[in-house]
Amino acid sequence: MTAPIGVFDSGIGGLSVLRALRRELPHEDVVYFADTAWVPYGERGDAFVLERTLAVAQALIEERGIKLLVVACNTATASAIAALRARWPQVPIVGVEPALKPAAQATRTKRVGVLATRGTLASAKFRALHESLASQATFVLQPCDGLAAAIEADDGPRIEALCAQYVGALGPLGNAPGCIDTVVLGCTHYPFASPVIERLAGPGVTLLETGEPVARQTRRLLEQAGLLGPGDAPGRLTLSCSGSQPALEAAAGRWLGERTEA
Ligand code: DGL
Repeated sequence: MTAPIGVFDSGIGGLSVLRALRRELPHEDVVYFADTAWVPYGERGDAFVLERTLAVAQALIEERGIKLLVVACNTATASAIAALRARWPQVPIVGVEPALKPAAQATRTKRVGVLATRGTLASAKFRALHESLASQATFVLQPCDGLAAAIEADDGPRIEALCAQYVGALGPLGNAPGCIDTVVLGCTHYPFASPVIERLAGPGVTLLETGEPVARQTRRLLEQAGLLGPGDAPGRLTLSCSGSQPALEAAAGRWLGERTEA
């Protein structure tokens, strides 16, 4: 039996990354941890997110014995990825960042909307990414307070209202000159609201998320480290969390459509 991959988010958002990982690496065992006692991270500040991320990573690496960690949370990646790599240099670690680079390639109008948490947008890591691409496109940054929490609560009317507010705040959308034609979903929770965002954004607007590139990068790191699982049996998925286990399992059923183990 080989060690599992660990996947971690503040809550259910990382399931959008897990979905892509299960497709890319169907034979790998995965332990998913949702820090649902403390979700959302996005409005709590850097020091708190760093402390929680280190604690969760420690439990996954030292107690669960994972072979690779996917930090499936933009906010935690921004606050903690450097500290994680310094503390566990022997463990391959994959982070997520808002898809600004693919957006700069994809946009024709050279205007891109970025929906993310307040924490991600305020981070030094995001600022550096933004500055490195500022000559290629104009990025309109929109913090989405409350949206991850509404998705976590599966609160349809609130998701709709917040998406209308935040998509509306981006300004004109579409593929006409001067409009935003590309919107980055810079929080792993937001793909679960993408049908709403897509409808509000209207035709001619492309939404970008990061699940698939993260899954491909995970495969590359496993291959490089000689850690790909040997089996061809379906990988086992174990879900755990610091909050309500039934709520996490219900969300996994909704978004992944597969049976899991606690
Ligand atoms: N899913 C997380 C992210 O990608 C954070 C949501 C939150 O906890 O605020 O940023």
